[in-house]
Amino acid sequence: MRIVCRCNDVTVEEIEKLIDEGVTDLEELRRLLRIGMGPCQGRTCIPIVISILARKTGRRPEEIPLPNARFPVRPVKIEALVEGEK
Ligand code: FES
Repeated sequence: MRIVCRCNDVTVEEIEKLIDEGVTDLEELRRLLRIGMGPCQGRTCIPIVISILARKTGRRPEEIPLPNARFPVRPVKIEALVEGEK
């Protein structure tokens, strides 16, 4: 068992199984396995998933579009917003 996404315990085998079943879109893989949705936001796992996807589909890594990025949501005190304008 080789872990690719440490935040969500996703293995190489799980990724390869979905690719073999026809899921060859990075965004779809991400949504199905929750790859890149952990605290690190995919900094380490997304490049590895891209290399697996490239190897399994015969595409070059540059041809695989990156997933949609979302900014992490974190609570902010209202004072920080108000003081930021001073
Ligand atoms: S290692 Fe995949 S989201 Fe952190």
